[in-house]
Amino acid sequence: MSKGHSLWNKAKKIIPGGGMLLSKRPDLFLPNQWPAYYSKAKGCHIWDLDKNKYFDASIMGIGTNILGYANRDVDKAVRNNIFKSNMSTLYCPEEVYLAEKLINLHDWSDSVRFARTGGEANAVAIRIARAATGRDKVAICGYHGWHDWYLATNLNSLNNLEQHLLPGLEPKGVPKSLEGTTIPFKFNDLEEIKSIINKNDLAAVKMEVERFERPSEGYLETIAKLCKEKGIVLIFDECTSGFRETYGGIHLKYGVNPDIAIFGKALGNGYAITAILGRSDIMNYVQKTFMSSTFWTERIGPTAALKTLELMERTKSWEYITELGKYIQSSWERIALNNSLPIKVYGIPALSFFSLELNNWQKYKTFITQEMLDANILASDKIYVCTSHNKKNINRYLNKLNDIFSKIKKIEESNSIDRFLKGPVCSSGFSRLN
Ligand SMILES: Cc1ncc(COP(=O)(O)O)c(C=O)c1O
Repeated sequence: MSKGHSLWNKAKKIIPGGGMLLSKRPDLFLPNQWPAYYSKAKGCHIWDLDKNKYFDASIMGIGTNILGYANRDVDKAVRNNIFKSNMSTLYCPEEVYLAEKLINLHDWSDSVRFARTGGEANAVAIRIARAATGRDKVAICGYHGWHDWYLATNLNSLNNLEQHLLPGLEPKGVPKSLEGTTIPFKFNDLEEIKSIINKNDLAAVKMEVERFERPSEGYLETIAKLCKEKGIVLIFDECTSGFRETYGGIHLKYGVNPDIAIFGKALGNGYAITAILGRSDIMNYVQKTFMSSTFWTERIGPTAALKTLELMERTKSWEYITELGKYIQSSWERIALNNSLPIKVYGIPALSFFSLELNNWQKYKTFITQEMLDANILASDKIYVCTSHNKKNINRYLNKLNDIFSKIKKIEESNSIDRFLKGPVCSSGFSRLN
């Protein structure tokens, strides 16, 4: 048994859920075989506890590292400031510089608050919207973290969040009195959100601008117009989409401005920092309520973000990862066609997904991960592209995928996938670990 696997078995006994982020759970990739823990990571490579080196063609820290792992310049900026103390009785100046920088990138905004995680930043934005409007209900589309306000969506039906990234989330522990306060709507279904807006006294409409599909013509514009008419705070959650196709929010590409935008993940290239950016007439409600946290003032987050933004701007990283993402998407299609397999490719290019449209897809997905792992590649059904990826290392992955697709074609013809799996099938959403 690998060191990683045995540590994971121990972790499951002493850390409920095994680890603190669902999306990294080994059972989502390859139960009993996924290496689970890293000893070091650099660029787009990861070393496990047994010193095996892998090429990361998967989630790149779940989208935190557009500039690659252990980016030399970001780490250097962080190290410099660590020597001067990450904490003190006084604030760090970097938070002001970062606020200015983010405002300059988004000319509709003039005010910023910081937090350290995406879920926190989302909770902050909802609190501000409720404080500013004096209303309670919110409508949501997308994944917005783990807090009570969001999970309340599932109080009247476990299926409410089915369309929003994570199926099966149980709202146990969320006060029942929150039932009906968060209303989900389907992406690109304009009639549904119109009807929700008309029937409810909403404080906020919060949505991801784009994840799996492009917003259809006029969709964002109409929502923004309706929100304006009704005095509803429009919040774009750009924790994941930010900096992947534009230098800032992906909403810049569509020319539709929210009242508040949230950034996270890639903003600090692996260091914890999230930003809630907005218009000061709304953001100033922070001072009418109470939001304050010790580690929202530490120095590493804003230091890393400032250097990350500088490097992104210099290298135009969003253009690079978009081009490479397009290449990956078209290559997936080509490889599938070569092997006569039906494929669906989707997502913004820098966050690309595919699925083979076969009945046993979950098993084939497990098979892909299993075979890739044998070739020291971490991969499943998605790639979060970073600037350490390039055509050379991606082609190695694509060649391997071509071999795997050709095996899948033969396995499919003989209907024998079960015989080829060395362990259990990967799980698909939130489920208990025993
Ligand atoms: C759009 C969006 N919002 C919020 C979050 C939650 O962020 P965090 O995991 O940092 O709390 C995520 C994380 O995947 C996300 O993609």
